[in-house]
Amino acid sequence: MLAADQRETFMTVVETRAVAPKKTKTTEPPDKTLGKPLLEKKVSMHCREVDVFYGDQQAIFDVSLDVGKYEVLAMIGPSGCGKSTFLRCLNRMNDTIDSCKVTGSIRLDDEDIYDPAMDVELLRARVGMVFQKPNPFPKSIYENIAYGPRIHGLTRDKTELDEIVENSLARAGLWDEVKDRLDDVGTGLSGGQQQRLCIARAIAINPEVILMDEPCSALDPIATATVEELIDELRQRYTIAIVTHSMQQAARVSQRTAYFHLGKLIEVDKTDKIFTNPGHELTEAYITGRFG
Ligand SMILES: Nc1ncnc2c1ncn2[C@@H]1O[C@H](COP(=O)(O)OP(=O)(O)OP(=O)(O)O)[C@@H](O)[C@H]1O
Ligand SMILES: [Mg+2]
Repeated sequence: MLAADQRETFMTVVETRAVAPKKTKTTEPPDKTLGKPLLEKKVSMHCREVDVFYGDQQAIFDVSLDVGKYEVLAMIGPSGCGKSTFLRCLNRMNDTIDSCKVTGSIRLDDEDIYDPAMDVELLRARVGMVFQKPNPFPKSIYENIAYGPRIHGLTRDKTELDEIVENSLARAGLWDEVKDRLDDVGTGLSGGQQQRLCIARAIAINPEVILMDEPCSALDPIATATVEELIDELRQRYTIAIVTHSMQQAARVSQRTAYFHLGKLIEVDKTDKIFTNPGHELTEAYITGRFG
């Protein structure tokens, strides 16, 4: 008798096999990423032949991948495969790690983000980031949102700033819960509220892309559901790249999924294709729970 989780894994394998026979039986990574890592149009971020090193250790190998405009791209793979490393390349967050070196090309629309002339502060406003652990500033809820627009000079006066604060909190689905206590400290909110506050903070400076690294892993299922609904709404206006350990979450929120293994991008495709009929044995082994 199989335990419930084994049965689920087994059934997923059976169902996956029933859809189509496997084309690739090898557990060797392919020479070239399978599926459709590159898009024909509506690309927000273009990554080409990206390698990342920490000192002598290579963490990312020759990754070429587009992030489409207004899509949610999920990045999945076993722990240590390089998801966070790759995500951090997209807004030069890896610059903050001394030993880290990034080669290859990454463009936001037509701009090379690694061009020495690139204003990195501005880049990080255009490509915002939401982390695993909510990290509000130890300031009021209002200030958490107002700080970015103020330093980036996005407003002329207090009325405009108030509007940005309200709109950002409303778009993050938090306004009704906090409108009567904007002066309370942000760190006093619940975990799920703090994460929505951080999303509101990212939105407040008009980003084009939002990067999320396991944004729900510290949240309970109800707060997770709220953030997932929010991600779906945000897709109307923003491009989102999200790292997640939850395959259910990737299936629920994303349109395309990228599977990483030992620093290599094995396969990228429409999310339902990755989860029902993956092209590579390594992807299938991961999604059916045989490793990772
Ligand atoms: N600051 C760092 N200095 C040195 N090596 C690092 C650093 N950060 C990550 N690495 C190494 O790079 C590789 C990829 O790590 P990364 O954190 O990107 O993986 P991940 O897929 O995000 O894993 P997880 O799912 O556990 O978060 C690992 O071998 C890791 O040890
Ligand atoms: Mg990580």
